[in-house]
Amino acid sequence: MMEEPFALGARLSACAAFVREGRVLADIGTDHAYLPIWLVRTGKIPRAFASDINEEPIQLAKEHIRRYGIADKITAFTADGMAKIPPDEVDDIVIAGMGGDNIAGILEGAPWLLSPRYHLILQPMSKAERLRAYLYAHQFFILEEKPVCEANRIYTVICAEYTPEPFHYSDFDIYAGRLDKKNPCAAALLQRQAGILRDMADGCAVRHDDKGEKHFRALAEQLLR
Ligand SMILES: C[S@@+](CC[C@H](N)C(=O)[O-])C[C@H]1O[C@@H](n2cnc3c(N)ncnc32)[C@H](O)[C@@H]1O
Repeated sequence: MMEEPFALGARLSACAAFVREGRVLADIGTDHAYLPIWLVRTGKIPRAFASDINEEPIQLAKEHIRRYGIADKITAFTADGMAKIPPDEVDDIVIAGMGGDNIAGILEGAPWLLSPRYHLILQPMSKAERLRAYLYAHQFFILEEKPVCEANRIYTVICAEYTPEPFHYSDFDIYAGRLDKKNPCAAALLQRQAGILRDMADGCAVRHDDKGEKHFRALAEQLLR
């Protein structure tokens, strides 16, 4: 039985908005597969790969894909990270709902992503700064970043692309990202990040690391300016 397309929550909607029209998607850590189902059923993309490291979510994903009548358009399978994704068949990669370190680890496992062909759409649940540090260190330029408030939590969604030319970036870019302070969700995210930086400064003070303390306090202030 075919069901009507459903509404995505704010977080997955923000991820969906970054997926380019007509491109092929790989959704890594798909769980329920709502994102690829929504994108295919609304006609924004023609097909997708949906993978998850665990068998249980993949069974659920397959059941949802069948229910929406698009088993010929979404290929679902278990895999660790990008392991079974065919590099020449995908354009946009979504990795959402995991920690920033886990996302960076998944990217690290797929060196073929170092190509401007792909758009990476990444939604870290934590440690966004560690993910940005990984992206910048590997010449992934952050094209855009969108803050999202959902169910009393605030997230950022990052859209990045590999650039063959190295570019300059600073610690400020790693902590502030490309968030627009005028957006209330972004302002709240930056406040939280500034708090983390102040804690790091306090840690330096305890260790009598004056240079580190100054550095992190200055960054925290810069973030809120
Ligand atoms: C919290 S769910 C997020 C689901 C969906 N992406 C979303 O944002 O709503 C995280 C999913 O990532 C999967 N996962 C965690 N590490 C993974 C890895 N290395 N490779 C593939 N999937 C992974 C988990 O099994 C889980 O289903």
